[in-house]
Formats: sequence, structure tokens, C-alpha cells
Amino acid sequence: MDQFTIQKPWDMHVHLRDGEMLKTVAPITARYFARALVMPNLTPPIRTNDDVSRYQQEILAASGPGSGFKPLMTFKILPDTDPHSIAELAQMKDVVAGKAYPKGLTHNAEDGIEDYFALRDVFAAMEKHNLVLCLHGEMPGTHIRGRDRERAFLRTLCFLARTFPNLRIVLEHITTVEAVETVLRLPDTVAATVTAHHLLLTHDDVGGDRMCPNHYCKPVAKDPADRDALIQAAISGCPKFFFGSDSAPHPREGKTRLYDCCAGIFTAPVALPLLVEIFERHHALDRLESFVYDFAVQFYHPRGPATGFPPKLRFVKDQWTVPEEIGGIVPFYAGQELSWRVEEVK
Ligand code: DOR
Ligand code: ZN
Repeated sequence: MDQFTIQKPWDMHVHLRDGEMLKTVAPITARYFARALVMPNLTPPIRTNDDVSRYQQEILAASGPGSGFKPLMTFKILPDTDPHSIAELAQMKDVVAGKAYPKGLTHNAEDGIEDYFALRDVFAAMEKHNLVLCLHGEMPGTHIRGRDRERAFLRTLCFLARTFPNLRIVLEHITTVEAVETVLRLPDTVAATVTAHHLLLTHDDVGGDRMCPNHYCKPVAKDPADRDALIQAAISGCPKFFFGSDSAPHPREGKTRLYDCCAGIFTAPVALPLLVEIFERHHALDRLESFVYDFAVQFYHPRGPATGFPPKLRFVKDQWTVPEEIGGIVPFYAGQELSWRVEEVK
């Protein structure tokens, strides 16, 4: 097969940033995705109705009014989030989820959560108002390190799923065999996003024989067995696993600092062609559309009537070279050849 068409995908986890960087990256996501769940970890964070409205307008302006791109909005859950603010947030049509970051463990998470139990009233309100809880699955605290942070967080995930049986929870950007197994074991209220880069990288690609800051993200890519478990989950046709790019652009300077290198990989320009290559290699191209579209729609079922014909995207087998830099950001696979090109279907 050297050409095929699918529903224009949804990216259920993306960082679009703000200001000049938003203007650079939003049109790229809008070109490849009909909808995307936009992360709220700006400075200051997106946490109120006003923040969400303002940010949504900025995104729409930056993505180009003719693009048809529709952002799905999130708010950041902070240690002092007022449970009473949840009802008001839930009234906004395009607000679908709240995101909880573990304190200090990733970009702009210094204001994150240390004690998840202390937020039980916020989670109860989200359950009541049918909002999705998105979780960065690493456990904060000085007594845990490395891979154990994710193992420890899975216990918190199980606790939350048990305590709030009607709360839809997404474990974001999973990286381990244990995360796949735990999500499979939990009820259907619990799902996970899988990135393209975690289907390709292992820890050695980040800091093995050579150090590669452009492969550094949180959670860090793990072992080959973990990567293979993620591939099996993505191609399995199980609706608990859907695509979230975690495309996380940083300026070149931030990625090349000797200390405190920024975590995040800018994958928006290449994620879909890479996914096609991976699914093709595993004889699973027939499952790609469910992974990048159907399962996200089924899990999130955002409100509002569908308007017009849903847009489609065509993939054409045709080599191209990924640019070395886009607006001061080095994309994933910079300078490398990819074998599939993406075309809008008019
Ligand atoms: O690698 C990451 N980058 N992981 C995150 O959780 C945040 C993101 C960012 O915002 O740069
Ligand atoms: Zn993210």
C-alpha cells in the first residue's frame, strides 16, 4: 500500500505554549490534527475560566481561522485548587479535563502536587461534573527515584480508580511494562496515552553511548522491553490506549544547557509519519485509525454536535527530510528521512 486516507487524527496530549512559540507550533498541530487536548502548564498556569477562554482564543488565532482546528482545553490542578471552582470550569463547552503534575518532576511543575489524597474533594467534584483527570504518572518525593517513581505512582492510580469509580482517568505518556499491565487490569474508566517517541526510544537513546538532549523528556524512555510493551499496546486495538503526542517544544537554548536541560521533545511535525512507519513495520496499519482517532473520541466524547463532514488526512509513501530547525526549535528526527508524507484531503 503506498497511499491511504483516515479520519483526521486527534492528539490527546500536546503542549502548544504561548506567545511567539504558540504562533510557530499551533499551525503545525492544526495541519496534522483535527482536535488536540492542550496542556495547561504555562507560566502562570491555566487554572480559571478566564485563563481558559483567553488561551483558547490565542490558540484559535495562532492556528489560523481557516484551519478548522478545535482545541480541547484543560486546567491545571494545583495543591490549592478550590473544589468549588470545578463546577464552573465544567460549564465551559471545550473544557474536558484537569491535569495534575507531580511537584518538581517536569517542566513548569514546581507548583505541582505532593499529596494526591489531599485533593480528594477536587477529584470528587471532577467525577460529579464528568471531567477527565489527566495524570503525569511519576511519584514526587525525595525517598523515591528513577523508575521507582512510576511504579509508586501506579499504586496512587489504583487508589484513585477505586475511590472514584465514575471518574475517567488518563495515565499520560506511559513508558513501562507495568503501566501497560496496570491500565489493562483497571476498569474501563482508566485509559492511557502513548507517544510516538516512547514507541521508538529507549534509555540508551537518551544517555547511552552518546548523550542526546533532544531525546530527553519526562518520563524518560525506559528499556527495550518497555518500548516493546508500548508498541504492543498501541497496535493491539485495545481502546484503553490512544495517541497523545506530548509534543513539547523548547527553544534550542533550553535543550542545550549544560545544567537543567529542558525535558520535552517537539514531535508534532513528525509524529504521524513515524506512527505510520511503526504500524506498517508491525503489520498493523489497519489499527492506526482507531489508535489516533476512534479511541480518543470514544473515551472523551466531547460535547457539542458534529458540524459538517469530519476532515480526513491522506498518507502518501514519499520520502522527505525533516528540517533541522523550525522557528528556533529542533524537531524530533531533525535532518533524518521519513518515508510517509501527510496530505490534507480537500
Ligand atoms: O517531557 C516533558 N515535557 N514532559 C512533561 O511532562 C512536560 C513537557 C513540557 O511541558 O515540556
Ligand atoms: Zn506533556
